[in-house]
Amino acid sequence: MARRPTIARTVPALRRALAKADRGDIALVPTMGALHDGHIALVRRARRLARRVVVSIFVNPTQFAPSEDLGTYPRTWAADIAKLTAENVSLVWAPTADVMYPEDFATRVDPAGAAKAGLEDKFRPHFFGGVATVCTKLFTQVEPGFALFGEKDYQQLRVITQAVRDLDLPLRIVPVPTVREKDGLALSSRNVYLSTDERAAAPVLYRTLKSSASRIKAGEVIAKVLADGANDIARAGFVLDYLEARHARTLASVTSRDDGPLRLLVAARIGTTRLIDNVAV
Ligand code: PAF
Repeated sequence: MARRPTIARTVPALRRALAKADRGDIALVPTMGALHDGHIALVRRARRLARRVVVSIFVNPTQFAPSEDLGTYPRTWAADIAKLTAENVSLVWAPTADVMYPEDFATRVDPAGAAKAGLEDKFRPHFFGGVATVCTKLFTQVEPGFALFGEKDYQQLRVITQAVRDLDLPLRIVPVPTVREKDGLALSSRNVYLSTDERAAAPVLYRTLKSSASRIKAGEVIAKVLADGANDIARAGFVLDYLEARHARTLASVTSRDDGPLRLLVAARIGTTRLIDNVAV
């Protein structure tokens, strides 16, 4: 029978659990819990890279605005540990908010570049500062040789990749492709918020991304393709935050295929749920 992972809740306990491991032996999968098959894909990829897979579970308050869902964000601890046990994960790093951010905590990482691309940052201005701060802390706490991030949060992936390079952090950021439901909806912990009707409408995002990417690849004008895509998404009942073509690495604006490699990114709200997704062109 698989063994339940060790749960470390303080930095000294984490360090003790990892005392005999070299950096190159450790792959970190940072999560906020509510684990789904997208997280399991990260764990499986991590296992191919390193002997020790550490999964962090920490719902990071600094990446939520006061108006957002920190209080109601899904917390499924028992189910998460059962999934990680089944995957033979031996160590879970689960600090409390006080351990991560003691009362006198006063230092933040303030990313620019891709973090100011006018995509997620435009709608969630606090978000990447919180993510970059907590990920930098996770990297210095766990000291992994690898950290795995899903491509679903594409701007986050670009921001963290840049931060690791800029701060000379000695680890490799490994991107992992988005895991999708059969109808194309990208797996997300927030999908549980969708009502039956909203869930039925949700695949329009991936459908639109895929058809827009094909049209752009075929040489159609990007602005026209995106305008059509925006209409399709609105007709399905979403309020669109953005549907944009960007440079895949810098996330800078583009006007033609020649400005590429390109990535299409979307964020849209239905009811009280906000979904994001992206594809390569
Ligand atoms: O993608 C997430 O779940 C979070 O943003 C992360 C990377 C674990 C940081 O809190």
